[in-house]
Amino acid sequence: MGNSNRPTVIAGNWKMYKTIEETISFILECKPLIKDSTAYAFLAVPFTAVRAAAVTAKQTPFVIGAQNVSDAAEGAFTGEISAKMLKEAGARFVIIGHSERRQIYCETDELVNKKIRRALQEMLQPIVCVGETLAQREAGKTEEILKTQLDRSLHGLTKDEMKKLILAYEPIWAIGTQKTATPEIAQQAQKFCRQVLSHTWDPDSANQVVILYGGSVKAENAKALVDQPDIDGLLVGGASLSVESFSRIVNCQQKKNL
Ligand code: 13P
Repeated sequence: MGNSNRPTVIAGNWKMYKTIEETISFILECKPLIKDSTAYAFLAVPFTAVRAAAVTAKQTPFVIGAQNVSDAAEGAFTGEISAKMLKEAGARFVIIGHSERRQIYCETDELVNKKIRRALQEMLQPIVCVGETLAQREAGKTEEILKTQLDRSLHGLTKDEMKKLILAYEPIWAIGTQKTATPEIAQQAQKFCRQVLSHTWDPDSANQVVILYGGSVKAENAKALVDQPDIDGLLVGGASLSVESFSRIVNCQQKKNL
């Protein structure tokens, strides 16, 4: 399978949900339920909750991160948050290029590329999202779209930088729709993403990159997805908001040990 060295990462993307109080309660309640898991449990919380989450998550399996970051180091950018601020608040990773940022806030691959570079400079691990729309899939353009997004978003990164990323394949038609990609469809797309990395850098480096699947993941379908050879974990939206379902997803398999 060739994936035995890659860690399993189950990442919750809370989007614009949960206050500071709710964040603290979630972590405290969830902690004992995932203590035996071999997966990393990432939580991308709202900016306002990063600090409290990071403090509460000390001595727990949780890794705390954010959902967006500015491409600029600092300056007159009203409403933006810098990588340095996130790092100081306790974030260890940041989601970049989520389809909601791309579609609603018009973020381009070029901006995604700048954000990745900025995050890496501050030693924040980027989780870079790519994925096609339903129309693009139906037009047979999935691979073309993924290749373009990867080429442009990761343009100019060194091999060492590329190996620090986590990639997330999130087909837009599967996000928040209850239409999860089948394990086979997700595997095919993620294998293709790894091939693109392999051609741009080299097979050995591409083989080290953790690639997550996201889009209507639930406790019921999590295991079948992570059992696929190129699916190293999951990026979970709605089902990460409840302790019960998120802990079940984190515990969904014990196969791919760290
Ligand atoms: P859902 O799991 O709610 O479909 O959201 C997926 C997602 O966008 C994770 O980043």
